[in-house]
Amino acid sequence: MFDFSTAAPREQTNAEKYTLREELFGTQDVLPAWVADMDINTPEFVLDAVKKRLKHPIVGYEEVSDSAFMAQIAWMQKRHGVAFEREDMFYSHSVVASMAVAIEAFTQKGEGVIAQTPVYPPFFHTVKKLERRLVLNPLVQREDGSYTFDLEDLKAKIDKDTKLLLLCSPHNPVGRVWHEEELRAIAEVCYENGIIVFADEIHCDLVYKPNRHIPFASLSDKARDISLTTIGVGKTFNMAGFAMSSVAVSNASLREQFHKAYERVHFAQGAVLSHVAFEAAYTEGEAWLEALLQHLQKNYTMLAELSRSYANLIKLTPIEGTYLAWLDCRGMALKDRELREWFVKEAKLGLGAGLSFGREGSGFMRLNFAVPSDTMVEIIKRFEDALERYDKN
Ligand SMILES: Cc1ncc(COP(=O)(O)O)c(C=O)c1O
Repeated sequence: MFDFSTAAPREQTNAEKYTLREELFGTQDVLPAWVADMDINTPEFVLDAVKKRLKHPIVGYEEVSDSAFMAQIAWMQKRHGVAFEREDMFYSHSVVASMAVAIEAFTQKGEGVIAQTPVYPPFFHTVKKLERRLVLNPLVQREDGSYTFDLEDLKAKIDKDTKLLLLCSPHNPVGRVWHEEELRAIAEVCYENGIIVFADEIHCDLVYKPNRHIPFASLSDKARDISLTTIGVGKTFNMAGFAMSSVAVSNASLREQFHKAYERVHFAQGAVLSHVAFEAAYTEGEAWLEALLQHLQKNYTMLAELSRSYANLIKLTPIEGTYLAWLDCRGMALKDRELREWFVKEAKLGLGAGLSFGREGSGFMRLNFAVPSDTMVEIIKRFEDALERYDKN
């Protein structure tokens, strides 16, 4: 019913993934697989909703309709078993901006904010830019290459001035979909120490069976009371350009504190075209998403097969969710700079450098495999040819 074999070319658009190639990789001659959006067409039913709205010739200030939020709430209840209420929901144009507001709302300059590296870079950049103290609680790697939380380290790093934990769930870039007991352990530590949890769940719909996303707020009343959750359509339906997500805050007193900081920076209501696109995605998107997940799994399988053939050089970190592959390239025995250059010059692929996700990312690269089948074949071919040459030398 949905065709993911090919997609519209983005070269002629202002897509970051393409326009920034020269700046990032020093050449246009790379197939870009870095920024976390998809090279897959945004679904027709989303575009149709926008076209329909445009039949009305005035595009002024508009409020997000209750029905848009209710569509998201129903989706989260049905797919993830979490019960948010209309009054919990805040509009946001950006998860990162919501994170900044949460930092402003719940911490003072100099107070501690925890990030679990390697992680999506704004998790630590935002903390530093706002002059809070960054408390690093790196994830630990297990035998099979997958990651988990380091609870002992977390407990040891918390002091009376540690106020907020930024949770990435599912986790970019390591691809974990946290298990209930892992999340419960985090919730327990945070609850006991009076730490608020900012749960960035923007990747929650991109989870491969049998894994299941567990919303932090659904764990228990206590977890719901100490947390804020960000959710949206940006990743799920390739709608980052619509710039619309939401923040759910169920605890009335946290909501009031968040609201004050939110008002201070004039978080308005965003763009009406985004509102209708958002509602259409949550209302009509299930079948498309199921098909997309199957497609992404095929791409992931191709990558897993390749990494098995060159296991001496690269290892694919097990992926439970997200469309981001965290490649352990330490077997290639290259310095980080050499590794980046190898991908650009030898493989002609533009990947995310592991080090940009924190120091623990040394020796790793992140590859975005949310591409149509024809592009995935090309990625595998370039990668395989380069690995073959490297292996021979
Ligand atoms: C974990 C995570 N949070 C937030 C974002 C960005 O969200 P936004 O564009 O809404 O700021 C990304 C994008 O890659 C992400 O991976």
